[in-house]
Amino acid sequence: MATKYKFPKRFLWGAATSAHQVEGGTSNQWTSWEHHNAPTLAAQSQYVYGSLDNWDSLKAEAQKPSNYLSGRAVDSYNRIEDDVALIKKMNMNAYRFSIEWSRVEPSENTWDSDAIDHYKDYIKLLKKHDIEPIITLFHFTLPDWFQSIGGFAKRRNVKYFERFARKIVSELGVTIRYIVTINEPEVYASASYYQGDWPPNLTSRYKWWRVINNLAYAHRRVARTIHGLNRRYRVSIAKNSSYFYPGDDAWLSRLSARVMQYTHNDYFLKKVIKSCDYIGLNYYFSNRVYGYRVHNQQDNLSDLAWSMDPSDIQFVLEQLSSKYKLPILITENGLADSDDSRRKWWISETISAMQSARNNGVDLIGYLHWSLLDNFEWNKGYWPKFGLASVNKDTLDRTLRPSAVWFGKIIKYLRQAS
Ligand code: BGC
Repeated sequence: MATKYKFPKRFLWGAATSAHQVEGGTSNQWTSWEHHNAPTLAAQSQYVYGSLDNWDSLKAEAQKPSNYLSGRAVDSYNRIEDDVALIKKMNMNAYRFSIEWSRVEPSENTWDSDAIDHYKDYIKLLKKHDIEPIITLFHFTLPDWFQSIGGFAKRRNVKYFERFARKIVSELGVTIRYIVTINEPEVYASASYYQGDWPPNLTSRYKWWRVINNLAYAHRRVARTIHGLNRRYRVSIAKNSSYFYPGDDAWLSRLSARVMQYTHNDYFLKKVIKSCDYIGLNYYFSNRVYGYRVHNQQDNLSDLAWSMDPSDIQFVLEQLSSKYKLPILITENGLADSDDSRRKWWISETISAMQSARNNGVDLIGYLHWSLLDNFEWNKGYWPKFGLASVNKDTLDRTLRPSAVWFGKIIKYLRQAS
């Protein structure tokens, strides 16, 4: 890679996962939901995904009910050495993962010290290899007891999340520095409370709104608690943001793009920004707006039929930076690409865009690829392949894809050149 690329010495190069998607053996509000819904999801798969170009190659997995059960996932809970070895192999110095609340506090106010020790050991192992741990406290999963008293739809329940945060951060102490309180708040609220796709399958506009606002409140409260424990902690959320742009010059397209930009990218962020030390950005796609609708190009799509515009991340970075004037950590970015034919291109476009954003003054502190491993993609199950490493579902052996081997070399080069 040419010398036009220059990233700071302390730049964080890494990958991200979440507990339920990789650990295996979790028991949270998804677990019984998956058992209940797996047969239907499998039966509906042709109707939902049948129009995808790659349907023929994914249908064997998508039509099996077991695809929709997280089950043993990729057994990361028992394979931390294997996973750390992958991170090392790619010359990364950062790893984002989530602490599974339902393991740490399986029933209300009862703490599982083995689970806490597990995460302590994990962090110790990462640090031994000079890998910065970045922990997420809420990545879409909740203990059953918390969901059964109304979850985040009730403001008075936020105190339980705060207590969990205080407990785990006190236990982990100063072995960690970067904390993500909440992953993609609006994605969670919409899928669970508005579209009815995720547990608890509600379609209530009122509850959706309550959840969004309660999550903002939860972040502010938890950030204050964490900063009260030690001011060295760097706290944020992982905010899903896309680049909204008008597809033509019509006034309605221009206006709608600006309105969508505000409602999707800024509304939540404005509510929490004062208690963020950096901005965590999850970027997956852009949205091209015609009139009042999004209509994306259809000729360059990932396996999930998401339109691929990796270089647009530059515009999202620049917008966030000029509005909020905080350092930015890319907490997720990647694509479903089972034959690994587009991942290398995607990453190289992204690195170029990151460099351009940095040249234009963005204080970008790191890049975490989603994902380290193929994993459980929520209600879509296992068929979408986001991993830098593929996983054999029978043996659970991990293999770095060619793009990941290439990415590892690039990271080595960029870290040496810094
Ligand atoms: C989520 C991940 C998910 C990824 C790909 C993000 O919305 O944080 O959990 O796997 O996107 O869909």
